[in-house]
Amino acid sequence: MSRAKLDSIRAAGPAILPSLLQCDFGDLRTEIEKLTVAGTRVLHLDVMDGHFVPNLTYGMPIVEGLRRHTDMPLDVHLMISDPVAYARPMVDAGADMLTFHVEAVEDSVEVAGKIRDMGVGVGVAINPDTDFGKLDCCLDSVDMVLVMSVNAGFGGQKFNPVSLDRLRSLKERKPDLLLEIDGGIKAETIGEARAAGCDLFVVGSAIFGQHDYETAINVLTQAMHGSPPSAGDQS
Ligand code: DX5
Ligand code: ZN
Repeated sequence: MSRAKLDSIRAAGPAILPSLLQCDFGDLRTEIEKLTVAGTRVLHLDVMDGHFVPNLTYGMPIVEGLRRHTDMPLDVHLMISDPVAYARPMVDAGADMLTFHVEAVEDSVEVAGKIRDMGVGVGVAINPDTDFGKLDCCLDSVDMVLVMSVNAGFGGQKFNPVSLDRLRSLKERKPDLLLEIDGGIKAETIGEARAAGCDLFVVGSAIFGQHDYETAINVLTQAMHGSPPSAGDQS
């Protein structure tokens, strides 16, 4: 539980972060082992409250359970209406990075400051339909921007290319800010996101929908570096 883990997240980039949303929750230990063998260096945890988004996933007990089984940094995406209320319990459970949604809060600078004071990395997320200008005031208060390329809430949605313009703009204005993208990332979309300046690529279906995670991650890594998927690859 320290901002030192933020450095390891930064050092991992460019990196693919499996999103624990469509995994086998009945056998999380095996899922983590398979992802570790496949070369994963950071895990992305999707926390949904059934209020900010209509879907409901998991909370502190799962984060705490994962913390006991891996040393990997835990990047926690809070799709919840009251991120401040759950920030401390999430940090105590073992989160290393907490990302709140700009749509969920009144004062993003204040929320970012409170999370930062808890000793973890802080990110702000923005949905594709939200006015991009809403981020301006808090860019100096966060370590990372999570540019959503789908509306937060569900896996398996179609990639929205507005995210690419947003990444390019952020990279130009704030070159040192960590940039993450989430939603519809697969071999066909990851290369463009990398070219737009993204560092961290959250992936759900393109890993968990595949039989072999290692092959899936290798295909994505190649595509991230600009090699198009070949005919025999998974996608
Ligand atoms: C969506 C979640 C994502 C999701 C991505 O609200 O934040 O992390 O798991 O899933 P795919 O890669 O299937 O779009
Ligand atoms: Zn996510």
